[in-house]
Amino acid sequence: MPLATAHVATDRPARYVKQLISHMGHKATAELTGAGRGTITFRHGTCSLTSTPQELVLIAAAADPGSLTGVQDVVTRHLLRFATQEELHIGWTGPTAGDALEIVAPAIDDYLLAHCTPPDPLLTELAVTTRQATGRAAGMQVSPDEGALLEMLVRLSGARTAIEIGVFTGYSALCIARALPADGRLLACDVSSQWTDMARPFWECAGVDDRIDLRIGPALRTLRALPEGPAFDFAFIDADKANYPAYYEEIVPRLNPGGLLVLDNVFLGGRVLDPAFQEDDHQAMRRMNNAVAHDDRMDCVMLPVRDGVTLARRR
Ligand SMILES: C[S@@+](CC[C@H](N)C(=O)[O-])C[C@H]1O[C@@H](n2cnc3c(N)ncnc32)[C@H](O)[C@@H]1O
Repeated sequence: MPLATAHVATDRPARYVKQLISHMGHKATAELTGAGRGTITFRHGTCSLTSTPQELVLIAAAADPGSLTGVQDVVTRHLLRFATQEELHIGWTGPTAGDALEIVAPAIDDYLLAHCTPPDPLLTELAVTTRQATGRAAGMQVSPDEGALLEMLVRLSGARTAIEIGVFTGYSALCIARALPADGRLLACDVSSQWTDMARPFWECAGVDDRIDLRIGPALRTLRALPEGPAFDFAFIDADKANYPAYYEEIVPRLNPGGLLVLDNVFLGGRVLDPAFQEDDHQAMRRMNNAVAHDDRMDCVMLPVRDGVTLARRR
């Protein structure tokens, strides 16, 4: 279904929502769906309206491009008419995100993959075995360049103690564990023994099995059972997205000063920046990204690596 979005800068977004809903109610089905939010359903399409502190976000949807233009036109005309005290700029664009968003151009992606240290035969075998055994779920595994990044970060930070949330078949855990010193420890948390059982032989083969303490169970329960003080030099979160804010809040106080937290999938395929996506995962990731950026306990940088990787260092 064709979609178009407009972000309209204004100090009075909620007022425009109310005006549009009450006026359009004479010509279409229009309703307020919450504070500062509403939906207008026309014969050939819909427009959802959302207020944020500084803008009005409009998302138009219709069955075909012609009808979409019709929805955009009627909403734009009315909004401009209501804006008697300011000049509004209403520029519609296609969806900013969704599955269509290309974070890194494919040619650059090929180039950078060809210019990273390639995965060794053990990591390659783990990737192939995972694909054969888990099919589409194998897409959850970190990519070779992200694995190499994790390994490099652990080595550079000199970490001795690490924690991982989201093990799957053990690729990222292997990258982290082998970058730790021989007496280092990785606490690896996952709910699935079916997937993590596949990891063990690869960890053994790499000689890092004795560094990894695998805990099966909901990670939040595992985290909350840990002592509360700082204990970890390195943490990696790559599990269920709706729990990211809770994982973050449990892990930060348990990081040593200078400890590094790596958060995976912070773009959620670009959906974090498209208000059309409002599921629990999207809202949780936005909440966490905002919290990290304004957390005075941490310094952070967000990188366009794969699906977005945030590095956050405890001050
Ligand atoms: C994206 S995969 C992790 C991929 C892994 N880092 C790798 O490199 O292969 C997400 C993992 O999170 C686990 N998971 C999902 N919900 C969880 C929860 N509540 N607690 C712990 N693990 C969970 C899943 O079982 C899955 O193995």
